[in-house]
Amino acid sequence: WDDCSRSVAYACKRRASTLTAMSTTPDHDPLRHEWLPVANASAICVQQPLAFTLAGEKLVAWRDTAGQAHVWRDRCPHRGAALSLGQVVGDTLVCPYHGWVFGGDGRCQRMPAHPGFEPPAKAAARALAVRERYGIVWACLDDPARELALFPEYDLPGTRCIHLAPLEVRTSAPRLVENFLDMAHFAFVHGGILGDLAHTEVRGYAVESSPQGVVARDCFAWQPAGFPGQEGDEVEYVYEVRRPIVAMLTKRTAPRPGAVPEVLHLLLALAPVDECRTRAWLVSVFDGNTSASDQALHDFNADIFQQDVPIVESQSPRWLPLEPGAELPQAADRMSIAYRRWLVQGGWSYGTSLGRAARQAAA
Ligand code: FES
Ligand code: CO
Repeated sequence: WDDCSRSVAYACKRRASTLTAMSTTPDHDPLRHEWLPVANASAICVQQPLAFTLAGEKLVAWRDTAGQAHVWRDRCPHRGAALSLGQVVGDTLVCPYHGWVFGGDGRCQRMPAHPGFEPPAKAAARALAVRERYGIVWACLDDPARELALFPEYDLPGTRCIHLAPLEVRTSAPRLVENFLDMAHFAFVHGGILGDLAHTEVRGYAVESSPQGVVARDCFAWQPAGFPGQEGDEVEYVYEVRRPIVAMLTKRTAPRPGAVPEVLHLLLALAPVDECRTRAWLVSVFDGNTSASDQALHDFNADIFQQDVPIVESQSPRWLPLEPGAELPQAADRMSIAYRRWLVQGGWSYGTSLGRAARQAAA
């Protein structure tokens, strides 16, 4: 983790922000106001609270018997025990140490050592804002800057949604976003699946940037036979980034007379563990006639992701260098260049407060 110890070098020069309310100051990390994925909804059950780390903070996710998911700081306000070692009892979580009973809002309802005592309001676990959408439980470390509305394709009728288990990767979240947006690596990293060495050229494509995000259209790539149920063919990608560490793509097979195009919508949602480790969620929505089984579709994406891991983990530095001239882009990188510019213009400077949180957690 030597990269982590040099995280001070990670801070980029901040510029005037187009989203002034979101701008980064030493005490204000815009990432803390974004919805971040914490677990697949199916992984949070009443039997066992789930402990995890998000942006350097230790958290616990649990589900009450009414089915509501909760995400709290994993620390009892009494003597600091990990609430994730406690037990779900009805709609409460009970601390493992002295049995304080916490309701869904985080407030302590009962202190067993003092059964007649009404616990004061400050006897409360810190509860985070939570949403359950797209098969994922999301939490926000601070007040959410906006509602979680990212992926309407998930709710399209007649589609199939496939979830991968979250995968921890030893790199920063923005490096994973860029990898997701990158077509020039298909032939080399995903040869025979997403590209091949006879089709390495990345043709020009259109990039639109606005304060709301970055979109790339008309991205054409050769996809060899291999996608379940498909012959080798040209496919079209549209890439979208509308949150700093969430990206989406839509992939369409070429229109053919008499054939319905296969459409894949893919959501990549990332949660930093710290500035050098990231948990990645991939949700695929298939819209089309493919006869491939859910398992085949799952394995297709899982295999691709596994091929990316050693490459992105090898990238140095692990953080995304935002200062001009730090790396040497090629023309095919127009989307990632626009993404970097958008991060800087929005006041996103990875590793500033996120790095501080990680260092505090390690101290
Ligand atoms: Fe939780 Fe004492 S530390 S009840
Ligand atoms: Co890849």
